[in-house]
Amino acid sequence: MTHPRFSFIDDRLTVEAKVSWEESGLLVLEHFIDPSTCNRLRQIADRIVAQSTPEADPTVFSTQTHAHAASDYFATSGDKVRCFYEEGAFDHSGHLNRPKERAINKIGHALHDLEPDFEAFAFSPKIGALAKALGLTDALLLQSMFIFKQPGIGGEVGWHQDSTFLYTEPLSALGFWFALEEATVENGALWALPGGHRQGVGPRFRRVGEELVVTDKDKRGEPDLSGAIPLEVEAGTLILLHGELPHFSSINRSSRSRYACTLHTISAASHYPEDNWLQRKTSAPLRYLHNGEPQ
Ligand code: FE2
Repeated sequence: MTHPRFSFIDDRLTVEAKVSWEESGLLVLEHFIDPSTCNRLRQIADRIVAQSTPEADPTVFSTQTHAHAASDYFATSGDKVRCFYEEGAFDHSGHLNRPKERAINKIGHALHDLEPDFEAFAFSPKIGALAKALGLTDALLLQSMFIFKQPGIGGEVGWHQDSTFLYTEPLSALGFWFALEEATVENGALWALPGGHRQGVGPRFRRVGEELVVTDKDKRGEPDLSGAIPLEVEAGTLILLHGELPHFSSINRSSRSRYACTLHTISAASHYPEDNWLQRKTSAPLRYLHNGEPQ
């Protein structure tokens, strides 16, 4: 089953695209970013990894074991640019068992503040125009990431809803997932449950004392995932994800990487709790997507 595909031409969404977004909680926009922008973004990611020191900061990221949740390196990364590595990339003495560019899991979480070329992309007029077309008048850019899914080791990202990590009252999280390379079932494409954003929000991942934990595990049962579909897309495609939409990606079983980058926004009118995992100590305020700065 293929989810409907749309385009964002002349800064407009068609009526059909808006209906698809409302009904499914997900919107696939093909050719949203051009090949040269995909290349430029991949080069930014590669440069950051080349400059990283994984054996000095050997933090892994795993949605299976949540090993990162015990790490101050992760917990204080909301206003920084930090690299996180695959769980299986270190031997028992803390040394990488492969080149770091093949061991990287993701980079987060303030690329939009601290990497000028990424900042120009994140606040580009086209993304601002899309926010406007979606009716987002007060979307603040909260988080940005590169996600790599390297061949042979790129791990699964378990089923989740972004609003359980970026919780606001009322709920307002929105995810922008940009494919920087072709994503297929073999190399770890996103899967999502169309319409699943109407099933309510699951247990939160939040700060309790010094720890990051998943709380209220009994709050809601497991969602019915029988209608889940893969979202195989070409490089340059944007997938918009409603904050309560369940989504997941499997391990990379191919010999090809699957680079993506993401932006997450929240509404300025919502309350952002102090026990959310992502906290910014910087004095730099969150900025509106539709301000379109810098250009
Ligand atoms: Fe997500």
